[in-house]
Amino acid sequence: MSKTPAPLDADPYYEGVPRYMIDVYDWAYVDPKWVRALDHNWVVAVLLFLNDQRLIRAYLNEIGEGARVWQVAHVYGDLVRRAAQKVGPAGVFHVTDITPVQIEHATRKLAGMAWTRVIRADAASFAVEESYDLICSFFLLHEVPEEKKHEIVDNMLAKLPRGSKAVFVDYHNPAWWQPIRYILKVVNHYLEPFAETMWKNEIQHYAREADRFTWRKRTFFGGVYQCVVVEHKP
Ligand SMILES: C[S@@+](CC[C@H](N)C(=O)[O-])C[C@H]1O[C@@H](n2cnc3c(N)ncnc32)[C@H](O)[C@@H]1O
Repeated sequence: MSKTPAPLDADPYYEGVPRYMIDVYDWAYVDPKWVRALDHNWVVAVLLFLNDQRLIRAYLNEIGEGARVWQVAHVYGDLVRRAAQKVGPAGVFHVTDITPVQIEHATRKLAGMAWTRVIRADAASFAVEESYDLICSFFLLHEVPEEKKHEIVDNMLAKLPRGSKAVFVDYHNPAWWQPIRYILKVVNHYLEPFAETMWKNEIQHYAREADRFTWRKRTFFGGVYQCVVVEHKP
């Protein structure tokens, strides 16, 4: 006799996970079997065409010892550990994520580092108790629907104190001569339906009050990636 599958909501790994994550990224960030298989540095290196270390450095270089940092979503591999180590015991390192399994993985990676906290929250609505020096989104925006991109950028900037920085590392519009452009077109079509608007829109397009901030953009690898540092205007 065939067994009726349990509804997804009855599975703790799916509880409270937004629809777009289940529909598009179940295999990448929700189903624990897949996440266990994929959570490695080499996967990040392959996904980023071996640009992982310089993109990670673009973020880590913005972290000073003793800083108070909020990373808005978990990333495969050792990035959260490296960011937390750079902050050190004199600082604060908070990472939020929306899926239970990613919370589990981040918690394991940061075990024993008393200045860190892993919090289950939507980056679009996380209510911050801390005054952060740095708020970073590392490859989150391209994975969320348009409305959510607006909400995440607005929430990060609303929580950004004067004198602090927001850092966005993500995809960008690749130059026409960059062969990766054509590979990504196919990948986006089949696997990343929310990514291609990052080619059309600057990140500041997603901010309701973009004029209140300065936006410094650097691109990498023939325009495939960008790092944007945002600060309040003087
Ligand atoms: C940072 S992005 C992509 C990073 C990159 N592909 C990697 O190597 O891991 C992936 C993470 O974003 C999380 N995520 C998706 N939507 C979110 C949201 N609204 N708030 C917080 N985290 C979210 C996913 O659960 C996942 O852990």
